[in-house]
Amino acid sequence: MLDRAVLEDLLAEVRLAPSVHNIQPTRWRLLGNDALLLLEDVTRRLPAADPSGHDVRLSHGAAIEGLSLALGRRGLKLAEVEPLIDAAASDGVLPVARITIAAGREPDGLADFVSARTSWRGGFRPLDQAGEAALYMFSAMVGDVQLVRGAEAIDAIARLADEAGFHFLCDDAHRAELLHWMRLSRSDPSYERDGLSAEAMAMPGVVAFGTRFVLGPLFPLLRRLGLAATLASERGKFANSAVALFHRPEGEDPLTTGRAFYRAWLMLTAQRLAACPVSVLADWPASNRQLVDRHSVPPGRRLVNVFRLGLPAGSPPGGKARLPVAELIV
Ligand SMILES: Cc1cc2nc3c(=O)[nH]c(=O)nc-3n(C[C@H](O)[C@H](O)[C@H](O)COP(=O)(O)O)c2cc1C
Repeated sequence: MLDRAVLEDLLAEVRLAPSVHNIQPTRWRLLGNDALLLLEDVTRRLPAADPSGHDVRLSHGAAIEGLSLALGRRGLKLAEVEPLIDAAASDGVLPVARITIAAGREPDGLADFVSARTSWRGGFRPLDQAGEAALYMFSAMVGDVQLVRGAEAIDAIARLADEAGFHFLCDDAHRAELLHWMRLSRSDPSYERDGLSAEAMAMPGVVAFGTRFVLGPLFPLLRRLGLAATLASERGKFANSAVALFHRPEGEDPLTTGRAFYRAWLMLTAQRLAACPVSVLADWPASNRQLVDRHSVPPGRRLVNVFRLGLPAGSPPGGKARLPVAELIV
């Protein structure tokens, strides 16, 4: 069933899955013709933004779901995902899970939306009737989301997102790490490989140019002058948007959470909605608690992430920055 050529073919689709900061931490090793090892490139962790490794593990989960969808298109399926608890890293990679493949599965309709899904960081146009119907369908189909609507509630979340974002930006290590993964100019050799390109972040060139100073050496001064928070504000991006609170069972392995997260994103893509996670809202305990309380996230569920979503006011950015498939096989 599996050989190097088949694996390369599968990974061309799997690598389109989302990953935090587009670090693409997932690596693969063939273990025979029906098994694979999923490994983590430990040089790509985010010690400042993701000290527990939760988002990296969630990203692996999204890659596993991507593999499941790619296999389904080829009459194959994931038979088992066995997390490896006590494995040790060697040569810069850490075994995360052993995956067994089997023959026979009906293709999953969501596989058709893998190449169209994207992080939409531009603005939104007002929701028309079709947009309202799409939102309704999305929230009806995905049991893991709580939809928030209404200009006042959305603006309150936008202000909370600014507060949460600023809280993290004030941490020097966090800002340095974010800048490290930003690809602010096409002359960056990694522009098409990984990280957050100016185009993907919907930043005009001049803003991208200024960002390296605002988040870099100028930040302490701008903060003292009271300007940093205003410059970093993303409040305007919530105009015309809805918000989806994505929640999953407390205590769930992020490998499983990541699979559901990717499926939810593909489902909204299937409804022609565009979205972007606003992780800071879930990551900052103060904003997480407020959202859970205000919007009645069900007991026993954990607020994992928050999507800003709606009808995009423009076209998605062109090609995606991704590592070559050959580099994903170790
Ligand atoms: C766990 C996780 C958290 C993320 N958080 C954010 C976020 O807070 N803000 C953001 O703009 N994108 C966020 N993203 C989206 C990634 O940056 C995006 O998936 C990556 O850059 C690849 O781009 P693509 O989604 O367009 O394929 C997150 C993705 C994952 C998997």
